Formats: sequence, C-alpha cells, structure tokens
Amino acid sequence: MSAPFDPLEFRRALGAFTTGVTIVTARALDGTPVGVTANSFNSVSLSPPMILWSLARSSRSLAAFQSADHWVVHILAADQEALSNRFAKSGEDKFAGLATETGVGAAPLLKDCACRLQCKTAFFKEAGDHVIFVGEVVAFDRRDVPCLVFHAGKYGLATRKTDPSLLSGKGPRESDISYGEDFLGYLLWRADLHFRNRVTPQLNAHGLDRDSFMILAMLMHRDGRSLDRLTFDMLSQFGSQGIRERVAALSGQGWVTAKQQDAASTVWLTDTGRAVALRIHVALQSIEADLLGRLDPTESLAIKHLLRSFIVQTDDGLPHPWQDVT
Ligand SMILES: Cc1cc2nc3c(=O)[nH]c(=O)nc-3n(C[C@H](O)[C@H](O)[C@H](O)COP(=O)(O)O)c2cc1C
Repeated sequence: MSAPFDPLEFRRALGAFTTGVTIVTARALDGTPVGVTANSFNSVSLSPPMILWSLARSSRSLAAFQSADHWVVHILAADQEALSNRFAKSGEDKFAGLATETGVGAAPLLKDCACRLQCKTAFFKEAGDHVIFVGEVVAFDRRDVPCLVFHAGKYGLATRKTDPSLLSGKGPRESDISYGEDFLGYLLWRADLHFRNRVTPQLNAHGLDRDSFMILAMLMHRDGRSLDRLTFDMLSQFGSQGIRERVAALSGQGWVTAKQQDAASTVWLTDTGRAVALRIHVALQSIEADLLGRLDPTESLAIKHLLRSFIVQTDDGLPHPWQDVT
C-alpha cells in the first residue's frame, strides 16, 4: 500500500533527524566480506548491551547479513567521508585495497573509526521495505575523535553550542546603535586579534612587521612576482601601503633580491629569506596548534570549515593571495 503523502517529502522529513554515519560489515557464508553505509543505527539496551540498524530489502548484501551470526557497526570519524561514500555504492568491490582486521565471526574490522561495536546477531525482522537487525554487543573499542554527522542528506560536523553570555558577562547591549557581540564583524575582528597578539611578537623577533612578513609569505608561494604586481596584491589583499620601501628593507637584510626581467623589476626570495620565512611558518603553526588545542577537537575542525564556507559564499571575486600571477 502506498503512503498517503509524497515519498520524497517524507524522506526530507526524516532527514531533519541528525544522525552519525556507520558502516556495518559482516562475512558472507562463502567468505566474501560485505559492508554497507547505514545511518539507521541506534542504541537499544544497555543491559544486555544491544543495538540495531536497518537494511533495505533491495540491498545486495541482505542475504549475507541475514545468514551472518555476527556483524560489526563502525561509527565513522569526521575524516571518513570517502569511506562512507565507498560503502554507499552498491555492487562494487568495496573492500578493494582496504586494510582490515578480523573481528568476531570473521567480520572485517575497518580501521581509524570513532567506535567499533562487534555484535552477535540477536534477531532480524522485516519492517516494510527494510529489515531491522538487532545485535548483542560482544566487544567494542572507541577513539576520542570528531565524528561524521549526517543531516538533511548532507555530511556535517557536530559542535557543541556556546553560551553567548560567556563572551563578556556584560549582559545585553545597552543601545541599538552599539555593536553587539553577535555582530559577525566583531567576532571576526576579535578572533583575529587573539591570533595576532600571539603572532606579532614572533614577527617582531625577526625584525618584521605583518606587511613585511606577508611579502615573504607571498614570495614563498611564488617568487619572481613583479614589484608592481606585489604592490597591487598587497594593497588589494591586505590594504598594505609602502611596499616598495619594505621590499627595499628586506633586500637590505639580504632576504629578497630584485632582478630586471624584460621591462619589469621582479622580486625573489634569497635562500636566507626562504629560511627565515620557513622558520616563522613553523612558529605560526605551533601558535595555531596551541590556540586550536584549547577548543574541543570538533570545534577546531568546524571553525575552519565554517570560515572556508563563509569565504567561498561571500567572495565577490577578490584575487587569491597565493594564486599564480606575474
Ligand atoms: C549516509 C548514508 C546512510 C545510509 N543509511 C542506510 C541505511 O541505514 N540502510 C540502508 O539500507 N541503506 C543506507 N544507505 C544506502 C546504502 O549504503 C547503500 O544502498 C548500500 O551500500 C547498498 O549496498 P549493497 O547493495 O552493495 O548492499 C545509506 C547511505 C548513506 C550515504
């Protein structure tokens, strides 16, 4: 009997429920490993420990799961999206080239997951176009890593919510014309300030200001830019002025050198300049690691994802600072 509503709309409604992503594996009677991506996983009972998931009756792996005494639910880590997609495609050799271990009932165990629940089949039951599998957990292992999330048909990350009042403790803003702490401009500026307050002393220790360092960084990605182009990029990307003077100062230190090419004056990093830029780069990476280390691991992943998404979606065609230019 068909449903009294649009099936697509029903799927969308179910997609409002956010889940993790799992891959369930087992060994077929003929020894072939089987596995499917499933987000229908749920916990059932703590004592005895039981879990469930459901598989479409159309799945090629159905018979193998129905005949298997054991199966393993792998809860995927945030960086296992490709693995999820691999096991969501029907009919291919999903295990080709994949390093696995062997679990209960010879079920294949996938590596680097957030959690693996090895189960003995308790029972399975047909329900509409799916079969529900219920298993008793006989062994499990877990890692403290960010998990992959599925919501509204898309992969995601789950981060905890922050109480906005933690930011200042000053309560609501006093007037409508004062910039509130939920103003994006304020948040970006303040976050940048926290980063810069750590970075500036590193740069100063090398006798550099931010703009001089950005010149070195630009040249690290591609040197031999023309002085005109460098001046234009520094102004359009960072609002920086006085580039010619800075290049002259860097040249005086022996960190960059100018060469005349055709009609243009081009700027190149010297070996010493490259070594200094690399040293600073390493120091900046350790500042980043320290600052992000104060966040929850999923938050530190999510903050970069969100900033990337913001940059992509609000870009009005600004040239990329590292892109190849002459
Ligand atoms: C995020 C995600 C969750 C899925 N969850 C389920 C599920 O719970 N049950 C299911 O039958 N199929 C689910 N699928 C689709 C199956 O993974 C896919 O149909 C399966 O790999 C078919 O493999 P097979 O025909 O080789 O057995 C899901 C796919 C994705 C991408």
